[in-house]
Amino acid sequence: MGKSNENIIEVKRLSHIYSGTDRGIKNISFGVEPGEFIIIAGKNGSGKSTLFRHLNGLLSPTSGAVWVHGKTVDSNVEYARQIVGMIFQDADCQIVGQTVFEDAAFGPENIGLPAIEIHKRTTNALKQLGLLHLKDQNPATLSGGEKRRLAIAGVLTMRPEVIVLDEPFSNLDYSGTCDLLSAIIWLHKAGHTIILSTHDIEKALFCASRMIIIHNGRVAGDDKPQTLLKDVEKFGIREPCASKLGMGIVPWNK
Ligand SMILES: Nc1ncnc2c1ncn2[C@@H]1O[C@H](COP(=O)(O)OP(=O)(O)OP(=O)(O)O)[C@@H](O)[C@H]1O
Ligand SMILES: [Mg+2]
Repeated sequence: MGKSNENIIEVKRLSHIYSGTDRGIKNISFGVEPGEFIIIAGKNGSGKSTLFRHLNGLLSPTSGAVWVHGKTVDSNVEYARQIVGMIFQDADCQIVGQTVFEDAAFGPENIGLPAIEIHKRTTNALKQLGLLHLKDQNPATLSGGEKRRLAIAGVLTMRPEVIVLDEPFSNLDYSGTCDLLSAIIWLHKAGHTIILSTHDIEKALFCASRMIIIHNGRVAGDDKPQTLLKDVEKFGIREPCASKLGMGIVPWNK
């Protein structure tokens, strides 16, 4: 994993305005240290996915830049994608294999790892995400929660330092959310830096060391979750019930 006290990711004055509109993200700056667990909070349309698409080079900045370990993402896309693994908002668009195993093995195969290493990494990742029993199933037939976990397994096989999850809890039921939350907590404990976007902060709040609020494409807050919590409703984000009741931040899945 990365050297401590050196930022893995550096976002500086990043703007991206979609052409012909005034929408997008504006002048966003922050750094990400190894081991952080950051919630990017913002209401629908605030710019979370637009920001994330710059972390692995899917979009290029209108101005400003993103650096990963000191290299600009824009001119080192392959490198950035090795360090930063992305789980997209729509799990379906990340499916590439005919079976769960093939799907999770795609990354290591694509970079030409030896067969034994591909098998080891893929089996481990599927085991960690509780999917090994489904390894021969067609990914298209998985449930929403299983697809989300498969997308994580596929990213995990590439051993990225940072795992970025865009709205990971959308459309999951209670048990699907609990399973995914446990998987994310495990990834963090295993040493991955986590960046997770959500409009519903309650589920991941207890795990987060930091929250960045995005509002109308700009950073409206960047601090410890407990410091920002009482202000979130100004930005269209729901304050968790426990906090409203004066109980502070409590684990969601207990
Ligand atoms: N391809 C595009 N062309 C034009 N405008 C876009 C495009 N993609 C996003 N936008 C606009 O940019 C703004 C930010 O969108 P973005 O998808 O980043 O928000 P978000 O915070 O991820 O929202 P959600 O919570 O709904 O996923 C929105 O106003 C959206 O309409
Ligand atoms: Mg989004």
